[in-house]
Amino acid sequence: MAPSSSSLPAVVLLLSVLFVSIPVLDGLELELGGDGLYREILRDETVLRLKELGKISDGEGFLERTFLSPASIRATHVIVGWMKDAGLTTWIDQMGNIHGRYEPSNSTDKALLIGSHMDTVIDAGMYDGALGIVCAISALKVLKVTGKLERLTRPVEVIAFSDEEGVRFQTTFLGSAAVAGILPESILQVSDKSGTTVEDVLKLNSFKATAAALGQVKYSPESVGSYVEVHLEQGPVLEALRYPLGVVKGIAGQTRLKVIVDGSQGHAGTVPMKLRRDPMVAAAELVVTLESLCKDPSRFLTYDEECGCFTEESLAGLVCTVGELLTWPSASNVIPGQVNFTVDIRAMDDVVRETIVASFSRIVMQRCDDRLVDCAVEHKHSAPATPCDAELTTQLELATRSAVSAMTPPSIGGGQRRAEPTPVLMSGAGHDAMAMARLTKVAMVFVRCRGGVSHSPEEHVAEDDVWAAGLALLRFVDQTVVAEL
Ligand SMILES: *[C@@H]1O[C@H](CO)[C@@H](O)[C@H](O)[C@H]1NC(C)=O
Ligand SMILES: *[C@@H]1O[C@H](CO)[C@@H](O)[C@H](O)[C@H]1NC(C)=O
Ligand SMILES: [Zn+2]
Repeated sequence: MAPSSSSLPAVVLLLSVLFVSIPVLDGLELELGGDGLYREILRDETVLRLKELGKISDGEGFLERTFLSPASIRATHVIVGWMKDAGLTTWIDQMGNIHGRYEPSNSTDKALLIGSHMDTVIDAGMYDGALGIVCAISALKVLKVTGKLERLTRPVEVIAFSDEEGVRFQTTFLGSAAVAGILPESILQVSDKSGTTVEDVLKLNSFKATAAALGQVKYSPESVGSYVEVHLEQGPVLEALRYPLGVVKGIAGQTRLKVIVDGSQGHAGTVPMKLRRDPMVAAAELVVTLESLCKDPSRFLTYDEECGCFTEESLAGLVCTVGELLTWPSASNVIPGQVNFTVDIRAMDDVVRETIVASFSRIVMQRCDDRLVDCAVEHKHSAPATPCDAELTTQLELATRSAVSAMTPPSIGGGQRRAEPTPVLMSGAGHDAMAMARLTKVAMVFVRCRGGVSHSPEEHVAEDDVWAAGLALLRFVDQTVVAEL
């Protein structure tokens, strides 16, 4: 099915409107919030834009925007418009990523990249990914209207990545991995459930879809100084701490497995219990065993020889999930012949994760032998933990702290503003920053979300927290990339 907008030019889209210089009138600062908080742009307009983007969907009555889907193409046009409005030069690369850049005329410095993803899961919330893109555009728009864009000392670029969730092709980071130069050529042949390949989808949208074209999406490490991403937390920690923003120490490593359990298909009424080779009960036992393994690893393993550690800290963030289980033929009166299930294992400590993966694989083989079923464990995806850059994180911490304390009204008696250190979190979810870390230094800001809920239409970020995130990004750019007058 051809997406509606085949008119989207494949390569560099358009030039920007930025050479119109905007005089900074005396009153303008005041209108925008002379207190330096720019509420109209960083909160009101940002929230409106998030709602607008949240309505651009392939689904009826729910939000779904997958890689280069018709809705993604419509969203692309909208985001390009916002980037231009912020004074940025825009283009779309051969993987469908949207770029909006300001290039100071006499700068040879490495670029600051700020990004997040524009794709969503199915029945998604409107903040996941979009929040980071829209906040970044808004922060740069404030720089434009205050005349500071012209004083940037380094190129600054916002990137809306075309795919992070990997819903359609079951492979994450198509967009950011291409920019980081770690996307294998073989990706072009990967197909979705309907048999359409990445190559087909790219061509349908008039992208070149060749290995050479993909290679050109890659940024050279020499041209990039750092990557920063704002993202909603997708967890409950900031809410519990009653703090709107956090900085991220690192992103957990992740392994995805597929387990295939083959047994003997048979009649539910005629095969005696003793003679069954039932893959369903074997799979059920494995699912429960995985839970125990990750809840209480010490019952199964001693790590001491492996990593000299088996501490509370090294186990931090260890989580294991079976999210998909398929049976064949899936009928109530048939003993299944085959059961497949997915396994997702994450941990901050790579040795812990690898040890859990190895020991789960061993357990699978043992239990399957015991039950006389045939099992195979396929490794689908594996990514090491990604530490964030310490110096960049410190700069973001200062910016978030200053933004939050500026927004907190002076307490009634003393007039002292709160300036507590920003909480430091670990990320259990993967983010584009993970792929970008292969290219450059990365750092992230997390934004509080209601109830820690994400990947759901219930996902919600308070308007003032959207504002805090934009203000933190603005102050970060202002303090690190804008020349003093
Ligand atoms: C660019 O060059 C001009 C002239 O040399 C200088 O005055 C200006 O400060 C430079 N701008 C930046 C952002 O460094
Ligand atoms: C299980 O996975 C195998 C290999 O990918 C596939 O051929 C088979 O159809 C799957 N079975 C089910 C029940 O999904
Ligand atoms: Zn996300």
